[in-house]
Amino acid sequence: MKEGSTHGDAKRIIEVFDTTLRDGEQTPGISFTKEQKGTIARRLDTLGVDIIEAGTPITSKGEKEVVQYICDEGLSAKICGLARVLTQDIDACIDCGVDMIHIFAPTSVIQREHTTKKSEAEVQEQTYEMTKYVKAHGFICMFSAMDATRTSLDYLTEIYKTAEEAGADILNVPDTVGVLDPFTIFKLIEAIDRVVKTPISIHCHNDFGLAVANSLAAVKAGASEVQVSVNGIGERAGNADLAETVMGLNAIYGLKTNIKTEFLFETAKLIERLTGIELPVNKPIVGDNAFSHESGIHAHGVIARSDTFEPGIMTPEMVGHRRRIVLGKHTGKHAVLNKLSEIGMSPTREQIDEILERVKELGVSGKQVTDDDLFTIAEVVTGEVSLHERIVMLKELSVMTGNNLIPTASLKAVVRGKECKSAQMGVGPVDAAIKAIQEIIGGEIGGDIELKDFRIEAITGGSNALAEVIVGVAKGGRMVTARGVREDIVMASVEAIVNAVNRLMQSGIK
Ligand code: KIV
Ligand code: ZN
Repeated sequence: MKEGSTHGDAKRIIEVFDTTLRDGEQTPGISFTKEQKGTIARRLDTLGVDIIEAGTPITSKGEKEVVQYICDEGLSAKICGLARVLTQDIDACIDCGVDMIHIFAPTSVIQREHTTKKSEAEVQEQTYEMTKYVKAHGFICMFSAMDATRTSLDYLTEIYKTAEEAGADILNVPDTVGVLDPFTIFKLIEAIDRVVKTPISIHCHNDFGLAVANSLAAVKAGASEVQVSVNGIGERAGNADLAETVMGLNAIYGLKTNIKTEFLFETAKLIERLTGIELPVNKPIVGDNAFSHESGIHAHGVIARSDTFEPGIMTPEMVGHRRRIVLGKHTGKHAVLNKLSEIGMSPTREQIDEILERVKELGVSGKQVTDDDLFTIAEVVTGEVSLHERIVMLKELSVMTGNNLIPTASLKAVVRGKECKSAQMGVGPVDAAIKAIQEIIGGEIGGDIELKDFRIEAITGGSNALAEVIVGVAKGGRMVTARGVREDIVMASVEAIVNAVNRLMQSGIK
């Protein structure tokens, strides 16, 4: 078995080549600043990716500076620059101080005839010469046959043999326009693997939603490296998603990578924030609903034993996410009882039926039912209103904002009978007010209140619409959801947080 092959070898470590900063940044509408690229590179390094493709230095002076800046960070991951099979592109990578140079040449008829206008022989010669050039300068060389999956197999194997002969360290197979399926890619990788000894990497695009499946199939067929991006960002429909590919390799195939999977969720959230591309709630592994359960049967099963309705081979803890039992029209008794027991309530059987009925009614009306809603319903039904001692009470809030002002919020609240004040600045009035309430609460109740979820919706139309804010606030490993409803969006936000904090405190979290 050649070096890099994974056939039947569960102990082999599959390399993760991350292209979030290169192919990922080619996503229409995305452009990272130098600082953002630095933040992402450091996070990818903490995550444990083996190689960071930092950019294409020849494209601009700014891009070159950023790649250089990432190279100077002293990260553990190897830093790679992308280059066409042209000396000026390769020289730009060399100038940046990269560890590895990824050269690529279009090989399919359609791309050769309509883009570079080069014959097969010319591309072959460029491949040979430029691979030699990279190696002569002492760099790790990756060669990609661009549009490999629409290139004739004969020519494709010839070109990979050429790159190998010239000294390439790794051969990348890009499914540039995402047209293959897992069965075809398996056969293709096997065919290439038969004629070269050099390790093979796979780079899949997601045009048919098959990028992850294709990457897994390629590894099964012998590829030893996967090229992925965080949240699957990249050209058009994107690249293979890092979290899905890594967890597929780990959990389904039992193959190892160097990824510290417990950082997958926070890495996805960072990219969500920096790109402004919101993760769909049903996104595997990192989406809000990836480990959420609402229906009675599922919630009952999961409360009893989580792998009844979760994969089991992958848990929220493994990927840094959390399990949530969500209340709504499908909720069952067990979920209600479970949540109420957390705040020390033990209603009678009749009371549970009544509480459940009201929770479902709220759910049917199209509303998200928060934990705070459930607790309020339960207090009304059981008459145990005294349980809801309000530890934090909002007294005053004022905000200043405008096009020439840094938004500022001043807030007064009573916490356990003591008056507390805070004034904070933020990117907007809501942000400033949230910071102020976090400061007061954190200071008085021992810090570490985390705002996990924050959603604003207008529940009536017009400029005087009622704003509904739903938050998830966590402390000490427990999260409570609550809502605030006001005409004033800032007040609604603070009210929701205060409601959630009161409920957290009520359940004994100090
Ligand atoms: O999709 C592609 O072909 C690429 C190459 C540069 C590897 O991104
Ligand atoms: Zn690509």
